Amino acid sequence: MINYTEKIPNNVDLGRDRVLQRALEHWQPAYMGWWYDMGPNESHNYEVYLRTATSVEPDGWAQFGYVKMPDYRWGIFLQPRDEKREVNFGIHKGQAAWQEVPGEYRSTLRRVIVTQGDTEPASVEQQRMLGSSCPSMYDLRNIFQVNVEEGRHLWAMVYLLHRYFGRDGREEAESLLARRSGDADNPRILGAFNEATPDWLAFYMFTFFTDRDGKFQLCALAESGFDPLARTCRFMLTEEAHHMFVGETGISRIIQRTCEVMKENKVEDPSDVRALGVIDLPTIQRYLNFHYSVTLDLYGSDVSSNAANYYTSGLKGRFRETKLNDDHVLADAQYPVSEVVGGKIISKNVPALTALNERLRDDYIDEIADGVGRWQRVIDNAGVPFRLTLPHKGFHREIGNLAGHFISPEGEVLSEETWKNHEFEWLPSSKDYAYVQSLMSGRVVEPGKFANWIAPPARGINNQPLNFEYVRFN
Ligand SMILES: [Fe+2]
Ligand SMILES: [Fe+2]
Repeated sequence: MINYTEKIPNNVDLGRDRVLQRALEHWQPAYMGWWYDMGPNESHNYEVYLRTATSVEPDGWAQFGYVKMPDYRWGIFLQPRDEKREVNFGIHKGQAAWQEVPGEYRSTLRRVIVTQGDTEPASVEQQRMLGSSCPSMYDLRNIFQVNVEEGRHLWAMVYLLHRYFGRDGREEAESLLARRSGDADNPRILGAFNEATPDWLAFYMFTFFTDRDGKFQLCALAESGFDPLARTCRFMLTEEAHHMFVGETGISRIIQRTCEVMKENKVEDPSDVRALGVIDLPTIQRYLNFHYSVTLDLYGSDVSSNAANYYTSGLKGRFRETKLNDDHVLADAQYPVSEVVGGKIISKNVPALTALNERLRDDYIDEIADGVGRWQRVIDNAGVPFRLTLPHKGFHREIGNLAGHFISPEGEVLSEETWKNHEFEWLPSSKDYAYVQSLMSGRVVEPGKFANWIAPPARGINNQPLNFEYVRFN
C-alpha cells in the first residue's frame, strides 16, 4: 500500500479519493516498470540535483535536492480553482466552467487528453540514450530534469483519465504505457514523437521546437471549458518553460562555441570548421529545418472540422483566448491559409473556425522567429557572416494543404526531382548525423568541464556554480 500524500505530492485530495487511489494502485507500478525500461538508460542509481514540485505555491513548486530518479515524487497538481471561471468561447460561452465531463463531449475530450498525454512519455523514450554522450554534468542534469517532468506530465493526464473517465480512462492510461516511440506495431500517436533524437544537437532542437509545440497545445487546452483540464495544463506550463530554456540556450551555446572557434582560427569553410571539432553553422541550419518542419506538422491540417468542433464545443481554445479582442464564437470570421495553385503558394481566406490549427501554428511561428533572432544575434555579435533562417512553412511538410508538394526553404514550388537534388543541402544527411555523433562518442562528466563543441552556460542551476556536482554517479 502506498502512502499517497507522502509519495505522491498533490493538491487533489488524493488521500481521501478512494476511486482514484484504486486506479493508481494498478497504474503506478506499471508506470515504474515503464520508467525502468524506457526512462534514461543506466541512470537508476544516479543521484541527480533535481527540482520537484511539492505544491503549487511559489515556494513549493521548485524544491531542489538530490534524488534518485526512480524515487522522484511525481505529483498531481492543478492550478487553484477560480470559482467564477466560465466557458470563455464557443456555443457554451458564458456558462459556468464544467467541473465534470459533459456527456456529449466525453469521447472527444478523452481523445484530446490521450493525444496530449501520449507525447509526454514519447519524448522520454526518444531521449533515453543521450545520457551516455552528454557534453557536461550540467547538461546531464538538465536532460534528466526534462525527463522526470515529462513523466509528471504523463501523470497529470493520467490523473484526468482516472478521475473523470472511469473504465475507459483506465484503459487509455494503460495504453499510454504500452505504446513506444518509433515502434512499427504500436507507435506513439503523433509523427514527430516517433522520430529519433539521436544526438544532443537534435535534443536541443527538439526541446526548442517540439517542447514549444507542447507549450502552445497546453496553452490552447488551458483555455478549455472543462476546468480540471484547464487547471492541469496551467500548472504544466510552469515546467515547460524550463524545457524550452534548455533547448534555446543549448543551441545558443553551440553557436557561440562554433563562432568562437571560427574567429580564433579565421576559418569559414564548413570542412575547416569541422576539422576543429565544432559543429558548422550550415549543419545547425539543416537540423533547424528538420525539427521546425516536423514540428509544424504537429498542429494538424490547415483546414480542419475537428479543430472547429473542439472550439465550438468549448474544449480547446486559441492561444491567449481570453486576451483576444473578438466575439470568441467566430461564426463569421475569416482566416488565411496557404495552398498551392498553378505551381505557386497562394493565400486564401477560409472560415476562421476551420482554420484554428493554422492559426495556432502561426502563433507558434511568431514565437519561434523571435528565438531564431536571438540565435542570430550570437552569430552577429561574434562577427561571423552567416544568416540563420526559418524555412518557408511549406518546406518538408507531410500534413495539411502544403503536404505532397516539393517546396524549397525559400517557398518555391519545385519538381520532385529538383527538390531531391537539393535535399541534403536543406536537411541533415547521414553524413551530417555521423559527424555530429562523432563529436559525442563519450560523455563529459567532470564537474565544470564542457565538451569542445559547446560553450558553458552563463550560470548554473538554482544559483549553483558551473562546477557544482549536479549528478552523483555512485
Ligand atoms: Fe510535457
Ligand atoms: Fe516539455
